[in-house]
Amino acid sequence: VTGTDTGVGKTVVAAALMHRCRSRHPLRYWKPIQTGIEQDDDTGEVERLGACAAAELLTAGIRLPHPVSPHLAAKWRGTTIDLQQLVAAAAPDDDTTRWIVEGAGGVLVPVNERETMIDLMSALGLPVVVAARTRLGTINHTLLTLQALRQRGLPIAGVVMVGERNRDNRDAIEHYGEVAVLAEMPVFAPLTPAALGEWAAVGLDHEDRLRTFL
Ligand SMILES: Nc1ncnc2c1ncn2[C@@H]1O[C@H](COP(=O)(O)OP(=O)(O)OP(=O)(O)O)[C@@H](O)[C@H]1O
Ligand SMILES: [Mg+2]
Repeated sequence: VTGTDTGVGKTVVAAALMHRCRSRHPLRYWKPIQTGIEQDDDTGEVERLGACAAAELLTAGIRLPHPVSPHLAAKWRGTTIDLQQLVAAAAPDDDTTRWIVEGAGGVLVPVNERETMIDLMSALGLPVVVAARTRLGTINHTLLTLQALRQRGLPIAGVVMVGERNRDNRDAIEHYGEVAVLAEMPVFAPLTPAALGEWAAVGLDHEDRLRTFL
């Protein structure tokens, strides 16, 4: 699960995917790189919103203070993020478990002097779900993200749009992006595990397109 930006709803989309897909396959959520650990814990949030069992979470990964880009958080910590080492830490333990991996920020967020998040995505080779906003600006951000993914040959499973429904933006993303919008996720008030689970069962990928990617 990548996003067109930070804060677009990747964590909530990942939690919804846990609700939606766990009846079909054992699932595991992983946040390989988390910055801003003094304030953000996406794994804990997915555990809560996705009503996850402990076995559904891989808690290992790069964990850094300060809510900034991974390359900078690592630099401030006096370390360098090594993607090869990171990916090796998540070697699959069986072939039935399907992984839902959440990125940090968007595809071109730097992780070290040479690499960005898309290099991690490429190393993992998993089909990509793009979380995007519904509001003005989303067409450009989403098409740019799709272009970057295609340039690297990454399979695109679809887009999930988050926020107040905007039919025109959805249509434009499907048309110009040549991509399926798997869902339009409403704003939940309040955002609870039950509300998210109920919505995911009927509103997320109702055409069952993800089946071929899992
Ligand atoms: N559908 C929704 N209804 C209500 N609140 C939402 C919804 N989607 C996201 N939010 C809220 O918006 C904020 C940002 O969402 P989220 O944490 O999922 O973004 P993110 O893309 O994972 O951010 P990051 O780049 O930090 O990982 C959170 O406070 C989250 O609870
Ligand atoms: Mg997140």
